[in-house]
Amino acid sequence: LWAQKTKTPIMGWSSWNNFRVNINEQLIREQADAMVSSGMVKAGYRYVNIDDGYFGGRDAQGHLFADSIKFPSGMKALADYIHSKGLKAGIYTDAGSNTCGSIWDNDKNGIGVGIYGYIKQDCNQFFNQWGYDFLKVDWCGGQKQKLDEKTEYLAIIKEVRSIRKDIIFNICRWQFPGEWAVKEADSWRISGDIDAKWGSISHIIDLNADLAKYASPGHFNDMDMLQVGRGMTYDEDKSHFSMWCMMLSPLLAGNDLRTMSKETIEILTNREMIAIHQDEACIQAERKLKEGSVEVWVKPLGKAAKKEFAVAVLNRGDNPATYTLSFANLGINGVSKARDVWQHKNVSVINGKLSLDIPKHGIVVLRVKGK
Ligand code: GLA
Repeated sequence: LWAQKTKTPIMGWSSWNNFRVNINEQLIREQADAMVSSGMVKAGYRYVNIDDGYFGGRDAQGHLFADSIKFPSGMKALADYIHSKGLKAGIYTDAGSNTCGSIWDNDKNGIGVGIYGYIKQDCNQFFNQWGYDFLKVDWCGGQKQKLDEKTEYLAIIKEVRSIRKDIIFNICRWQFPGEWAVKEADSWRISGDIDAKWGSISHIIDLNADLAKYASPGHFNDMDMLQVGRGMTYDEDKSHFSMWCMMLSPLLAGNDLRTMSKETIEILTNREMIAIHQDEACIQAERKLKEGSVEVWVKPLGKAAKKEFAVAVLNRGDNPATYTLSFANLGINGVSKARDVWQHKNVSVINGKLSLDIPKHGIVVLRVKGK
């Protein structure tokens, strides 16, 4: 019997944002080690996901093999290593014949490393032979070949589901794929590739704002991998992480886990923020108020009857803001205290109101109970 999938969004690390195709087995093992030693595993992170860049080619029978210089021990040994740390291993392909960053090009070789034409064989390789637990399926190849996206993705998903029930399947299509995807995939990208820039974070939040209705237990809008610890300010990283939690994106750190600052670890392992992300109700936050540069986002928590909420007050503007939050305006009544999940302290709420100072691109996240 295989383990059950969790109904909450996955947490882990992916190689793409920091390393692009310059990956190798030693590097991946060191990331797994650092995920344990940094305290991330204790905070809930599990997946070590290998993105584009591991491919070597296909042999005469069409079997996929890894680059033997970068991955001399092979992909199974690497998955075994990741599993030996109590973690889960993720792998990557493309619905077409070639991948986005791969040097392999079906125009040149007549045979690419993407899954097109090899769905059964590659899924057998990834899951039965190598033992991976997660699959991200990209679309550069599919786009180039003008394949039908729904047909291709559903065929791959069907094969994956027939192998094991606990495999996490991610569609990487750079926009909301359509309603056909929301019960089939575990998550689906809704945007182009993220950058470690405030404009990119802001843009992805807006793209996801109208998609809340598509999130449900086990099925989530993917806002792309995290850029925490990759060059933005402390407040920007905090806002980015908080909104990915509020909006139920998978949390896949994209930084080098071996060289994190104290601040980066503090953000990535904030237990109170993660508890909001991992809340059992799996309801994506919605934007309830917008006043100038300040926005108020609300995420219901737990069983509806408990009237518990996470409230995020986000300052998207380029100047600090002061804001008086009124819980009654959000339809949350009888609030007398709030838990500040970044300051890790309780604050009193006077007459249903709270006055807040929010730095440029900053955020305040509160956990409250109504009556
Ligand atoms: C696309 C995806 C990225 C990454 C690269 C790999 O750009 O959106 O997340 O997987 O391909 O080449």
